[in-house]
Amino acid sequence: MITQSTIDKIFETSRIEEVVADFVQLKRVGSNLRGLSPFTNEKTPSFYVSPAKQIYKCFSSGSGGNVVGFLMELEKMSYPEALRHLAERYGIEIEETERTDEQKEAISRRESLYLVNEFAAKHFVRQLHQSEEGVSIGLSYFKERGFSTETIKRFELGYSVKQSDALHQAAREKGFDPKILMELGLVLENDRGPYDRFRERVMFPIHNLSGRVAGFGGRTLRTDKKIAKYINSSESEIYNKSKLLYGLYQARKSIVKNDRCYLVEGYTDVISFSQAGVENTIATSGTSLTEEQVRQIKRLTENVVILFDGDAAGIKASMRGIDMFLREGLRVQTLLFPEGEDPDSYARSHSREELHDFLQKEVKDFLLFKVDFLLAEADGNPMMKAEAIREVVRTLSLMPSEVDRDVYVRESSRLLDTDENLLFSEVNRARSKQVEKEHASKKAAPAENISVIHKKTEETVHQAKKSTTYSQEAHLCKLLLNFGQTNCRFRLINEEGVLSKPAEEEESVASYIVNEIEADGLRFQEKLFFHIYEAYKTAVLEGEPLPEQKQFLRSEDQECVKIAIDLTEEKYRLSDWNAKGIFPKSEMDTLEQNVRESVLRFKEKMLHQLIEDSKAKLLESESDATTSEIMKELHQLMGLHKLIQKMVGQDV
Ligand code: UTP
Ligand code: MN
Repeated sequence: MITQSTIDKIFETSRIEEVVADFVQLKRVGSNLRGLSPFTNEKTPSFYVSPAKQIYKCFSSGSGGNVVGFLMELEKMSYPEALRHLAERYGIEIEETERTDEQKEAISRRESLYLVNEFAAKHFVRQLHQSEEGVSIGLSYFKERGFSTETIKRFELGYSVKQSDALHQAAREKGFDPKILMELGLVLENDRGPYDRFRERVMFPIHNLSGRVAGFGGRTLRTDKKIAKYINSSESEIYNKSKLLYGLYQARKSIVKNDRCYLVEGYTDVISFSQAGVENTIATSGTSLTEEQVRQIKRLTENVVILFDGDAAGIKASMRGIDMFLREGLRVQTLLFPEGEDPDSYARSHSREELHDFLQKEVKDFLLFKVDFLLAEADGNPMMKAEAIREVVRTLSLMPSEVDRDVYVRESSRLLDTDENLLFSEVNRARSKQVEKEHASKKAAPAENISVIHKKTEETVHQAKKSTTYSQEAHLCKLLLNFGQTNCRFRLINEEGVLSKPAEEEESVASYIVNEIEADGLRFQEKLFFHIYEAYKTAVLEGEPLPEQKQFLRSEDQECVKIAIDLTEEKYRLSDWNAKGIFPKSEMDTLEQNVRESVLRFKEKMLHQLIEDSKAKLLESESDATTSEIMKELHQLMGLHKLIQKMVGQDV
């Protein structure tokens, strides 16, 4: 377990606006920052971060929370994982309470996979710079390719030596389990025993978005055609080719800053571009694009430029994959390199300025590029041209925005020299088929989603069954959270509803609320409010220091954090005195009155409910004894209710 003092330190040091900015492009609006929700596919930004309060609120998904909750929600981290991530990001050392053996066991398997990969990455870096073979073969290769020392460091490039068990040995010496090395595909086994999979290769570690090493690519330095030029880690719990994008970790800030991302083919393209100052470059690892990857990009920017090298077959193969971007509503541009050049070679053989100019001038809209490409391919052949039109219709129909479709249909019809209306009606027809298909696939939700849907339904039902005192309890919690510690001189109300002078003695708002409610033996109905109230109650009754707002804002229970955020929103504050510690007399009276009335309103609602419950019980009662028992109770409740109604009436 992470100690409380470490948790406090993490919360005190972390800046939510910085952590969120790793994933979302934020713009300042007043005292807050705003961006597109990373949780939904919204088009207009409704995701807010408050640097002052260190919270986020997402109006499109309804979620909200602190910096830890944000990571838990977005990266699907557990509470301790999120804390660890932040500790690492801000260089905070984690103190832990002693773990039991079971807990040690349970420390996630994933964690041990990452640790082994990270050990291997360091090992390869060491080999590159410190072993004779690494320096003379690996490092000199990188230098020859034009990679600077800084670039080699930035991408944590390494070298795996010829000796067949160098990594295996080193890992064993460090006490790592050889089974994990095999699971990661770093070590294989034959009848002569285990051996390293990557040998005599320069190594490219592949990071996930939070910077952990998920896998490796390794390039052989031999020219032997029988040896695969590049090999990658095998798929494992942490290495999923179709989810990762090479370079995204290094590129993410630049992507957000430039609001644009360049998509290239491989490792060397990313690295050369980055070194040439185009840091917002990423690559798929030789697989076609997946929805998951598109979504990761979309969280950072909606503008993608896809770079092709001149090979027509390659371009055609990747076109379908690019359609995915359009379907997600991204703006896609393409850029074709001259014959015989790829992004890597171009960046190496041109100056920064030339590269920059080229990227500026040569970009073309993807759809128009596609039309041109298909037309050129058809080369006047009517059959192929008809096929090209059908293909363009299909792509156009994927665009979610009607405005975009409209513009592109007009432009395409001009380029294709076809009737605009015909193209419109074809696109619309394809579009309705498309929507139907999406609908059907949504209905047939995979099994793993069913529990989520189930949970959603439960939540809705739960919300529909809000207890009758929900808003009164919420209001009392607001007062506790915002003014619990504030002292007032409360007035008493007698049974005639007449107010006394303010008491001589001051009493805290929390103490007043707790004592009033406990004196009548009432109880909060709503679970989350109950927890907040209980924390104050315990402190008041046991004479301990009152809980602080931040205790709820930092709770492990993210539901609690959400409620606490809602209840401490500015708009609920009577004014901002609380922060300043200044309480003008007149406003002090307003607070006193507000607290007093809120307690009464809660009591009134609560008693009303208890009376209704009692009446219902009376109808069901089967024996005279219980009936008279209930009657007595009812009588009492009604007496108290009348009294309170009188007080409320007088007061309000
Ligand atoms: P290249 O063949 O150009 O690789 O492929 P290279 O390392 O730049 O080799 P040379 O020096 O030009 O001959 C470009 C990118 O395609 C991916 C790699 O990411 C590489 O950086 N690739 C290439 C693979 O993933 N596997 C392969 O077998 C080849
Ligand atoms: Mn190359």
